[in-house]
Amino acid sequence: MRVLSIVGARPQFIKLGPVLRAFEAYGRGGDAIHNTTLHTGQHYDDEMSAIFFEELELPPPDVNLGVGSGPHGRQTARMLTGIEEVLVTAPPDVAVIYGDTNSTVAGALAAAKLGVPVAHVEAGVRSFNRRMPEELNRVVADRISDLLLAPTATAMDHLAREGLAARAVLTGDVMYDSVLVNSGLAERRSRAAARLDPAPGSYGLVTLHRAENTDDGSRLRALVSSLEAVAEKLLPLHWPLHPRTRAALGRHLPGWTPGPRLRLTAPVGYLDMLMLIKRSRIVLTDSGGVQKEAFFLGVPCVTLRPETEWVETVQAGWNRLVEADPAAVLEAASAFLAGAGAAADSSAGELFGGGRAAERVTAELVRFCRSGSRRRSVA
Ligand code: UD1
Ligand code: UDP
Repeated sequence: MRVLSIVGARPQFIKLGPVLRAFEAYGRGGDAIHNTTLHTGQHYDDEMSAIFFEELELPPPDVNLGVGSGPHGRQTARMLTGIEEVLVTAPPDVAVIYGDTNSTVAGALAAAKLGVPVAHVEAGVRSFNRRMPEELNRVVADRISDLLLAPTATAMDHLAREGLAARAVLTGDVMYDSVLVNSGLAERRSRAAARLDPAPGSYGLVTLHRAENTDDGSRLRALVSSLEAVAEKLLPLHWPLHPRTRAALGRHLPGWTPGPRLRLTAPVGYLDMLMLIKRSRIVLTDSGGVQKEAFFLGVPCVTLRPETEWVETVQAGWNRLVEADPAAVLEAASAFLAGAGAAADSSAGELFGGGRAAERVTAELVRFCRSGSRRRSVA
């Protein structure tokens, strides 16, 4: 079986890790899965790309299209051109796409147009906010994919409501598999503690990169004021900055210097990130992946967005959605720090597949390819 794995952005390299390991495990049974990894080049800085291949011991991408950054149309068009060439030259049995980025939708569209079957890992995830580019990417990718590999029961429900149940399978979330495999490794290998000097339990962790939070100057300024308030009044914050956010801060808050308790750093590698989350008292984020990792690692999370795709984390009392308003953010963070969150729940991971998602993804891909993998008509 020949698989083309299409990735391009930081969280996709992380999701690829457990899947490639599961391919290998399956191949030890005698029936090899031949994987080709296509990196679109959407993320390209070493700290946004190469570090994840190294830390997760992923084979280097077989193809890197090097599309780089740009407006959505241009970036996606370059991806389409490059992916199409690869698909025409060496058509796989199935193209596997991950998550919700421009690389996801480009992979889906290029493959579907050529009649190459498409499988979507992390299908059915919805925010119901069509102003988010990610939501458009998800809706389009799911509509034209042939095999929908859903991370949660909630995602399965969304697919059923969109009339896509016949193509959908509940696999669990490969990001939970990844946390299980890598958190021990992070304990042994991460040098975050030495480099950033955060004593365990003494700090909070911030990440922020959503376009809706960074592109609008007044919203970004309100978020920065909120983080400054938490840092000054409650506890020091570590904030590894996404390059989009670094650029946006320069644009919308020129000359701003954070106070000593709001510590900005470059993006960190995955193992450092897992350690930083694990040792923090609270996470403040707009990242989908980081919300889930906080939940998996038993750390309360304040989500700086009006909605979340990962409603299970909110229902469990472990995540609160908060507006970009200093008083609201302070109140939510104070409540968590005072212990008002739910108690750590060891069944958290069961909601996300219990650590067997990549194994199920692999089994479903094999079943799908063996069944003839004819393209369904995409209505
Ligand atoms: C993308 C995804 C988002 C995902 C995020 C993960 C889309 C529409 N968005 O957002 O869903 O959550 O990745 O991190 O696909 N840049 C660099 N170096 C890099 C990469 C980016 O400097 O290696 C800067 C560029 O200025 C670029 C900006 O970051 O314009 C945004 O990058 P882009 O890939 O377009 O979107 P993300 O915000 O990273
Ligand atoms: N991450 C990382 N270093 C960082 C910030 C995030 O390794 O400096 C990891 C994080 O632990 C998670 C993934 O990147 O596994 C989430 O990616 P991101 O927040 O960029 O995107 P999203 O999940 O929102 O799509």
